[in-house]
Amino acid sequence: MSFLKSIRINRRKIVLGSAATVAVAPFANYGIGAAQDATPAGDGEEQLEIFSWWTTPGEAAGLQELFDAFSAGNPEVEVINAAVAGGAGSNAQVALQTRLSANQPPDSWQSHPGAELFARYVEPGYTEPVTALWEEQGWHDVFPQGVVDQITFDGEQHLVPVGVHRGNVIFYNKQVLADNGIEISDDWTLDDYFAAAGTLSEAGVASLALGGRDTFAIVQLFENTLLATLGAEDFGRIWLGEIGWDDERVTQAIEYLARYFDSVNSDQAALTWDGAADLVYAGTAAFTSMGDWLYGDAVAKEQQDNIGWVNHPGTGGSFAAVIDGFTMPVGAPHPVNARNWLIAAGSAEAQAAFAPFKGAIPARSDADASGFNEYMQWSAGSFGADTVVPSLAHGGAAPPQFQTSVNDAIITFVVDLDVAIFQEALVLAAEDAG
Ligand code: GAL
Repeated sequence: MSFLKSIRINRRKIVLGSAATVAVAPFANYGIGAAQDATPAGDGEEQLEIFSWWTTPGEAAGLQELFDAFSAGNPEVEVINAAVAGGAGSNAQVALQTRLSANQPPDSWQSHPGAELFARYVEPGYTEPVTALWEEQGWHDVFPQGVVDQITFDGEQHLVPVGVHRGNVIFYNKQVLADNGIEISDDWTLDDYFAAAGTLSEAGVASLALGGRDTFAIVQLFENTLLATLGAEDFGRIWLGEIGWDDERVTQAIEYLARYFDSVNSDQAALTWDGAADLVYAGTAAFTSMGDWLYGDAVAKEQQDNIGWVNHPGTGGSFAAVIDGFTMPVGAPHPVNARNWLIAAGSAEAQAAFAPFKGAIPARSDADASGFNEYMQWSAGSFGADTVVPSLAHGGAAPPQFQTSVNDAIITFVVDLDVAIFQEALVLAAEDAG
């Protein structure tokens, strides 16, 4: 099984990570701010409709910064926020497919680079290449090559990236850890985590807050654990079909996944990812493993001083990249505004304004780093130094068909915690997708 066949592109473009294929340039040149030229205004088009799933407080605040960057150059244009709630786009992606297949696209929509962009939107012919815009704006000089590879299909660019999230982060309540004498570091292991969970259990504190109503949160917990058991290089290779899903390190990751449920919040099935974050802010649970949009959530709720962060246990040296960007549709209702939206969203200023609210780092490597908060500096340092790998839960690593099969299987797993059945489902899903 190799997912590459299904999306007709060179393997370097799928896997950001393994030693042979790592392609993301370091963010070493942060700090050289570069402004783009002002753009002509809307040309008689009165509206701009932007589709995303950014509705939680931090997500919405970040999106507003992008809107403001567009409105600064296009003050007459009404911006329509067509966001559909649901973590990781679970509802938005379904609603968008309905619109696209009915030939009713918004003016631009959110997508992750890699498998999701290519399989959902480029191959079916829903996106217009933005290759000329990339040339005109000089974007090839300011985005890391590994990111450019992930948005390039048959030599054409199909997305404008706005921010880079790190998926393999575990956030914690500082006071809860201090009260229980637990000390952790970026180098900690899964066994260290379970030792801490044991201490917390004895003290009657839930170790892990999980928002299992968002299926992606469970898949992400699994993939972070798999990244730990496989290591970055082999985690990259599993998406190439070079490592089988029947590998014993996959078994090990599933066994760990089952163990988290010994000390998880009892209402995990009812909470979304941000509801789980609230438990950590409140000190009702100690940890939550989540992409760093959680940091944006904490900022929006003024909770950032109560939380700390480290690598998901066992994943030091890896950066699980979850990159967000916006498309140019075929048949955009307001094509001039759509183009100006992409120019604004791709600018260094907009990305610098967006990132702190969203918990991301700018996708451009020339964004002004002087204003980075402590969290962003940690993340940017990791992005520059560590092995960058793609995410299954956020569409980059494998085609939608495989992702859907894993989502289905993990919902069953949470109920029965049957390691063998879940692993068999992964093997079959990979066969089906290959
Ligand atoms: C991801 C997306 C992030 C964040 C998260 C939770 O898929 O890339 O920007 O919004 O979902 O909704």
